[in-house]
Amino acid sequence: MAILHLLIFSVTVSVVSSAVTTNPAKSDTFKPPDNYLIDCGSSSQTTLPDRRTFTSDSTSSQYLQYEGREINLHDQSANVPLPIYKSAKVFDSKATYSFHVSKTGWHWVRLHFNPVKNKEFKLQETKFTVVACETLVLLHEYSPKGIEMQEYLMNVTTENLSIRFSGEKQSPAFVNAIEVVSAPDMVVSDNVDSLFPVGKKIDGVTRFSFQKMYRLNVGGAVIGPGNDTLGRNWDSDKRYLKSESFAKNISIAPSVVTYLEGGSPLIAPPTVYASAMEMGNSNTIAPNFNVTWEFDLDHAYAYLVRLHFCDIVSKSLNTLYFNVYVGGKIAISALDLSTVTGGLSVAYYKDVFVEPEMVSSPFLVQVGPLNEPTGDKNAILNGLEILRINNSVNSLDGAFGADGKSALGPSRGTVAAVGFAMMFGAFAGLGAMAVKWQKRPQDWQKKNSFSSWLLPLHAGDNSFMGSSTKTSLGSKKSAFYSSTMGLGRYLSFAELQEATKNWDSNSVIGVGGFGNVYYGVLEDGTKVAVKRGNPQSEQGINEFQTELQMLSKLRHRHLVSLIGYCDENAEMILVYEFMQHGPMRDHLYGKGLPTISWKQRLEISIGAARGLHYLHTGAATAIIHRDVKSTNILLDESFVAKMSDFGLSKDVGMGQAHVSTAVKGSFGYLDPEYFRKQQLTDKSDVYSFGVVLLEVLCARPAIDPSLPREQVNLAEWAMQWKRKGLLDKIIDPHLVGHINPESMNKFAEAAEKCLAEYGVDRPSMGDVLWNLEYALQLQDQGKTDEESNGSGSALANSAPLAPTVDNRPVTTPAQASQNPAEVQVIEEHSSTTMFAHHANLNSR
Ligand SMILES: *[C@@H]1O[C@H](CO)[C@@H](O)[C@H](O)[C@H]1NC(C)=O
Ligand SMILES: *[C@@H]1O[C@H](CO)[C@@H](O)[C@H](O)[C@H]1NC(C)=O
Ligand SMILES: *[C@@H]1O[C@H](CO)[C@@H](O)[C@H](O)[C@H]1NC(C)=O
Ligand SMILES: *[C@@H]1O[C@H](CO)[C@@H](O)[C@H](O)[C@H]1NC(C)=O
Ligand SMILES: *[C@@H]1O[C@H](CO)[C@@H](O)[C@H](O)[C@H]1NC(C)=O
Ligand SMILES: *[C@@H]1O[C@H](CO)[C@@H](O)[C@H](O)[C@H]1NC(C)=O
Ligand SMILES: *[C@@H]1O[C@H](CO)[C@@H](O)[C@H](O)[C@H]1NC(C)=O
Repeated sequence: MAILHLLIFSVTVSVVSSAVTTNPAKSDTFKPPDNYLIDCGSSSQTTLPDRRTFTSDSTSSQYLQYEGREINLHDQSANVPLPIYKSAKVFDSKATYSFHVSKTGWHWVRLHFNPVKNKEFKLQETKFTVVACETLVLLHEYSPKGIEMQEYLMNVTTENLSIRFSGEKQSPAFVNAIEVVSAPDMVVSDNVDSLFPVGKKIDGVTRFSFQKMYRLNVGGAVIGPGNDTLGRNWDSDKRYLKSESFAKNISIAPSVVTYLEGGSPLIAPPTVYASAMEMGNSNTIAPNFNVTWEFDLDHAYAYLVRLHFCDIVSKSLNTLYFNVYVGGKIAISALDLSTVTGGLSVAYYKDVFVEPEMVSSPFLVQVGPLNEPTGDKNAILNGLEILRINNSVNSLDGAFGADGKSALGPSRGTVAAVGFAMMFGAFAGLGAMAVKWQKRPQDWQKKNSFSSWLLPLHAGDNSFMGSSTKTSLGSKKSAFYSSTMGLGRYLSFAELQEATKNWDSNSVIGVGGFGNVYYGVLEDGTKVAVKRGNPQSEQGINEFQTELQMLSKLRHRHLVSLIGYCDENAEMILVYEFMQHGPMRDHLYGKGLPTISWKQRLEISIGAARGLHYLHTGAATAIIHRDVKSTNILLDESFVAKMSDFGLSKDVGMGQAHVSTAVKGSFGYLDPEYFRKQQLTDKSDVYSFGVVLLEVLCARPAIDPSLPREQVNLAEWAMQWKRKGLLDKIIDPHLVGHINPESMNKFAEAAEKCLAEYGVDRPSMGDVLWNLEYALQLQDQGKTDEESNGSGSALANSAPLAPTVDNRPVTTPAQASQNPAEVQVIEEHSSTTMFAHHANLNSR
């Protein structure tokens, strides 16, 4: 622990000293060499209360290249906080502002939007894209609904800073005001500490572009541009504070604040440091809690988190020590401001680079006391900035670069290339099959629920297959690791060995095609499931990478989350959150576990449907799970369902209705259409989910070879009974009498639709979800009647007053006798592969 502190201190000090070297001038004021302020669409110049003057539209026409109609809108009666929001300039075709940059380096770009009322345009419904310098996407299909200001900080390396507005799909674009203002070099340093792993440095930060997400004067009031040293706006933190009673604001006179040698008010003005939040009730005997702020961040990006501190609470030096957490991880351990700054009321800041996989939801910033008897039990924060960092395709908004390249899709470069190269390598011997590309179905645009904004863009190149197969396996592997950011936390082999009691066979909680899954407890007490792959299997490597790649960019309540990985000594180990109650299937049949109620089954089905719905529609590119089955739906300690096992998952490229690929999946769950056409769509998951729904209802495996022939395949058998209207005859006997018939019908209907012969006839996961929720409502209503009637089930009778009675599992001793053939049921391994052809994910 002492070493860790030392490390963090040395890091801390180096940040301070680097500030010294980058800012020898130590000036308090900064006169921007470039300072363009334009009140777009306005007939006269506009002076704001902060005394900045925005030039009129006509005097700024020299900056604008625009061929379209001149459209300037005014709403003089508008009740707006600043006069720049009264006028707007509308562009009916591409428009480019270009500004001469007199000194290259950091520049603020601030774009002001307000859809002003007018007769001709519905500005609230516009959709447009803004690109800076032809390469940096600032806004993608943006549609401002009210007054909005977007602020960027970019290192301009050319003498021409251009900002291009272009409407999407016939929509006009508009803007109310533009600011392009130089910022001092020291505003961002090139080298920043990574939040995790501790000690890692991120270099080349000055090549990044930033978008302001949050900038807070913690414990203080709003600071407007006129009162900031660089024209920034600082909000109050109140709105983000998790529990106000745990925090108390405190302030001193700003004039008392001093800066370190090399520090500068340009980083943040004294007013930011002169106020703070400290622990509320910190006078109680042993306060031990964090002061917590909560933020909403898109986890597709990395962020720069800047924490501002100034000890305005201590009476003497060296009494305040506290921990600072970002995203639930320790960012500064035992911060001792007295030692770092050598005094009280001295400004200090610390930058932390947060990689996308560290971005939790909600994203927390916390300060809390040390768990040691030393010093005051207190913790403070004076200011906080959270800046989004451009992604790998140089976009700050969405997965597409200015050239249409995708950060996530099949053109994602090395990661995808490696995956496919490996598949190619592994299966080329079996005879690569020609991949046929079907035309996109006509009804794709209206039926498909994938984000429609993917459609107009083209996919990147797919030339990687040939070239990357040439390199050796080893170099491909390292390329894979160094080129991705979303890998979760790195865990050492020793750490995992310890966690699993040296891979104790008693810790094995699952066995799959990939290898064993162990139960483990990490040093910090986190319970985990450790999936240790068999390094011999090429397919294993492939699935390992797919899973890592998929999970690292996905985070959702109904998807099992990845905690970390280990690739030491050619190991392939994935570490997940531990799911206490294991696979859903075990609670339905075969394991003799207590029966779960209908309501609980509905809730679990709804959870799983939500997870799948998110996969299909939530991420920038749709993802098809490809192995939906009851063993891949896991339950946590509160029986919340989460989808797991992304080893076979596939991205659907931009605008693709399907991917052509060899058929993989599990017997009994396989979409017959996918099987016939070898074309994978999200509807293949829907089919498999339909089979899962039948399992839930009938409590038997999807395939049971021990049964008479016509009963082996659950989907076929159950659908025969459904068509005869006799489905209730084959449902789980435990449900008889406890299931509202309307609820069951709704549920069975949903299952039947999922199992439609043709994908186009199947509902989307969103529709399935809706139906299941409806089935739950019907059950709830039905149950209340049943209870009030007093003639209800044994369940209801046992606790007639509790409407949530169905949440508790009921133990039924005769579970095992239920299905005598159970023991002979074939094991559905986690990656039962029907045909091991090479798979190809392509783009049109
Ligand atoms: C600056 O702060 C002073 C006092 O806090 C306030 O009266 C004034 O309105 C502020 N000016 C601007 C431009 O925000
Ligand atoms: C600046 O760049 C933009 C976009 O590339 C271009 O349209 C414009 O002509 C350039 N302006 C100057 C003065 O070079
Ligand atoms: C801007 O980026 C270039 C490299 O792209 C770098 O050389 C330069 O130092 C950066 N400017 C600042 C002010 O950091
Ligand atoms: C705390 O904030 C409130 C307003 O939010 C202000 O009135 C009060 O003076 C502040 N207290 C301190 C000690 O700064
Ligand atoms: C403070 O937050 C961190 C990170 O979320 C957590 O690990 C720690 O246990 C919390 N401390 C207290 C006292 O709640
Ligand atoms: C942001 O864009 C720059 C320039 O294209 C690139 O060098 C950098 O890697 C990007 N940042 C991230 C986090 O990918
Ligand atoms: C009560 O149950 C009886 C038979 O079980 C049924 O006929 C009647 O409609 C029920 N009443 C209500 C209010 O549900």
